[in-house]
Amino acid sequence: MVSTKIRHSVKKPDIFRGDVHICCLTQDKKGKLVFPNGYTLKELESAVSWDDFKGEVGDSLLVYVPNIGKAKDKTARVLFVGLGMSEGKNTNELRELCRNVGGNIAAEIEQIRASVLHLTLPCIQTMDGKDIAECFVEGIMLGDYRFLKYKKESEDNPSFKGIKTLTVYADKGGKSVLKGMKKAYASSLAACKARDMANEPGNSWTPTSFASYAEELSTEYNMTCTVLGKAQMKRLKMGGILGVNQGSSEAPKMIVLEYSSKKPKAQTLMIVGKGLTFDSGGISIKPSAGMQDMKYDMCGGAAVLSTMAVIGEEKPDVNVVAIIPSTDNMSGSSALKPGDVIRHYGGITSEVVNTDAEGRLILADALAYGIEKFKPNSVIDLATLTGAVILGLGHHRTGILGNNQILLNRVLKAGEKCGEPLWQLPLDKEYTEQIDSDVADIKNTGGRPAGTITAAAYLQKFVGDTPWVHLDIAGTAWDFTKKSYIPKGPSGTGVRTLVELVRDWKGFTDK
Ligand code: BES
Ligand code: MN
Ligand code: ZN
Repeated sequence: MVSTKIRHSVKKPDIFRGDVHICCLTQDKKGKLVFPNGYTLKELESAVSWDDFKGEVGDSLLVYVPNIGKAKDKTARVLFVGLGMSEGKNTNELRELCRNVGGNIAAEIEQIRASVLHLTLPCIQTMDGKDIAECFVEGIMLGDYRFLKYKKESEDNPSFKGIKTLTVYADKGGKSVLKGMKKAYASSLAACKARDMANEPGNSWTPTSFASYAEELSTEYNMTCTVLGKAQMKRLKMGGILGVNQGSSEAPKMIVLEYSSKKPKAQTLMIVGKGLTFDSGGISIKPSAGMQDMKYDMCGGAAVLSTMAVIGEEKPDVNVVAIIPSTDNMSGSSALKPGDVIRHYGGITSEVVNTDAEGRLILADALAYGIEKFKPNSVIDLATLTGAVILGLGHHRTGILGNNQILLNRVLKAGEKCGEPLWQLPLDKEYTEQIDSDVADIKNTGGRPAGTITAAAYLQKFVGDTPWVHLDIAGTAWDFTKKSYIPKGPSGTGVRTLVELVRDWKGFTDK
């Protein structure tokens, strides 16, 4: 999908030449198929008369039509795809519907191995053409994702490589349709890049890989990249990330990538992502069953860095500092031990009760350092932080907590808009008491009750009164709700929420 080209066209669909022509159809209030203008194809009418195609969501019909348009010499393929009824659905539901149907299209075209597509969008009264185009392109591109890097190609059955060109037909509002498509293109590409990073195994995607990609982005988009290595971490007394890294032979990196907006007096947003490239649990080792999934423990970092690519491309009116603390969590002979006390950047000491609660240790240093150095107006962190969030919210919603309800609401709204739903958990001071330690300022676990909240309470110790929001994506970064446009494996969650936020950034006037 990385090489997909998108275009929009005002040419009548009947003079299209390509692998398949896709026509999206809705139903009216009574559930009757709405025939689109220009598609009085008898093949479709026949299918409808047999009740073989109703136009419900998930319905599709592939027909072969001889002698249409310029393709006189060839039979054209037309794929009809149903959306069901749009009546009674709110804007976010409609957006999700379009993405879902887009994902269905990606699955269908893989079956027929079509790579040059022409798409006629449905007409949905309560939705802008631009938004319809955006959500369809998003669904198709996100659904057209596959990770084939480590698979041997079979000679007689080569794998489908994805869409080459996607042309969207729009007879009016072409410019704004193209705008919607471009937005979708950028955010989907970034989400797929985050999936690529996550799909790479722990022996390939290392802290150094994060650093190299950040450096690449900084060159491409004229951003500033600083990578702190072990020596600098020692100088800065970042005891959290250094502690977690102690058992590993892989070098830790704290990656800082800064985008400066041209807008005078722009506010600064800091985004922080957990970049734990493999979490064995350390000395508090995890059970071996399923441990391979812990290569995904860097999905927060992947989401943050991918978002920076969109920021570089679109240059929003807000300064953005991305920080990715990155290491793996291993159990070598010099590894951190339960009971050890570490000192974080800024001086707070912590008793490490469980070496598997390592995410908060590396994030604490990143948050404290970034807030002191960049004085951001707002901070958002993303982390696959706790198994407990899966017990609470399953794989359907990201847990969200924070210290500022305005910022929380903005993130909640952005997530809802792009099909990455969140659910807020409380963060009262009673939870904070669970991480009081007898020997240090705090300890790194608060026991079994409210595991997601006590993890957030730990992070809260390092943000002061800067408006801050924490996203626990442990349940949604992979194994996310089954959706047509989210393949098995890593979902790329968080990218589109962050992109949505920065595109329409509303700062704080009081800070
Ligand atoms: N990376 C894990 C969290 C995780 C667990 C993500 C399952 C996805 C699926 C994190 O570092 C961790 O191990 N957390 C511990 C914390 C506990 C020891 C307080 C957990 O959730 O079990
Ligand atoms: Mn862990
Ligand atoms: Zn972890």
